[in-house]
Amino acid sequence: MNVPKLTMRRPDDFHVHLRDGWTLKQVLPATAEVFARALVMPNTTPPILNASDAIRYRSEILGECGKGGFTPLMTIQITDATVPETVRTASQAGVVAGKLYPVGVTTNSENGATDIKALYQVFGEMERAGMVLCLHGEEPGEFCLERESYFLDALEGLAGSFPRLRIVLEHLSSEEAVETVLALPETVAATITAHHLVLTLDDVIGGKLQPHHFCKPLPKTPADRAALIEAAISGNPKFFFGSDSAPHRIPTKECADGAAGVFSAPTALPVLAGVFEHEDALDRFEAFVSGHGARFYGLSPNEGAITLERRPWKGRLRYCGEYVPFMAGKPIDWRVAG
Ligand code: DOR
Ligand code: ZN
Repeated sequence: MNVPKLTMRRPDDFHVHLRDGWTLKQVLPATAEVFARALVMPNTTPPILNASDAIRYRSEILGECGKGGFTPLMTIQITDATVPETVRTASQAGVVAGKLYPVGVTTNSENGATDIKALYQVFGEMERAGMVLCLHGEEPGEFCLERESYFLDALEGLAGSFPRLRIVLEHLSSEEAVETVLALPETVAATITAHHLVLTLDDVIGGKLQPHHFCKPLPKTPADRAALIEAAISGNPKFFFGSDSAPHRIPTKECADGAAGVFSAPTALPVLAGVFEHEDALDRFEAFVSGHGARFYGLSPNEGAITLERRPWKGRLRYCGEYVPFMAGKPIDWRVAG
């Protein structure tokens, strides 16, 4: 039988949680075997706050990589305590982005920013240094389905005040956010996850509670998901892939106060291929995962290629015996040829 194949430039993941220590050892292969580079989020415990944290974390990651040719792109977290000097030294150390979490909006963000305006000198330094500002775009304290919407004013304010600062609104989850990003200048881009292209709120709480679909921002309505799909397949360079793969061990997901995060690294690329195929947009898939993000970040395109095959399978139920990957037990049409 002739298996349809898709060969393309090695992809990048512009938003991933690799954690540290033993968890890093466990989950890193799922990313490093598929993606040439990944933008590594700083919300570890303790968090990555400055150049020396980032240097130490980068060597920990590289120490686990072996010879696979994987490059971690490092971030620092922007908190109330960040000052322009933190940005300068981090940038000199090769840190490519600063990640801002509004306080308390997601996992490990208790130290998040309480006042975005108070950080304007920091953003000015990021603009000068060429460091990208990555935003978890949810407003604390608002109703959970409207937090992204309430944050969009702050995004518009930042884009207006810092016309040369590159800003990424992470993990888009609503039609309104898509429209806002489209209306802002080309310095403003956005990542889209695989799970927000597949799930709606019904897949989290519409039937029995699905803790492994629980994430921040929450998946929303079918219309929101349709707008995200349209943005992803549009070919517009403002939209590119960031998995937001966020592993949590089973007991911390299946409990009374479950952690937010979908562990998608093992399946994200095949799942995305299925979404693009379904929309008859496979010709724009490579640009979404291997082109637009690199260009926005000012990185050269990856060397080498990856091949996906259309050989349907069922997602594995467990990863390392301790995590439930996205699409566990569900049909997935594509797989990475290996
Ligand atoms: O669901 C999420 N989990 N969203 C985030 O923004 C963070 C992530 C995590 O670190 O677990
Ligand atoms: Zn994230």
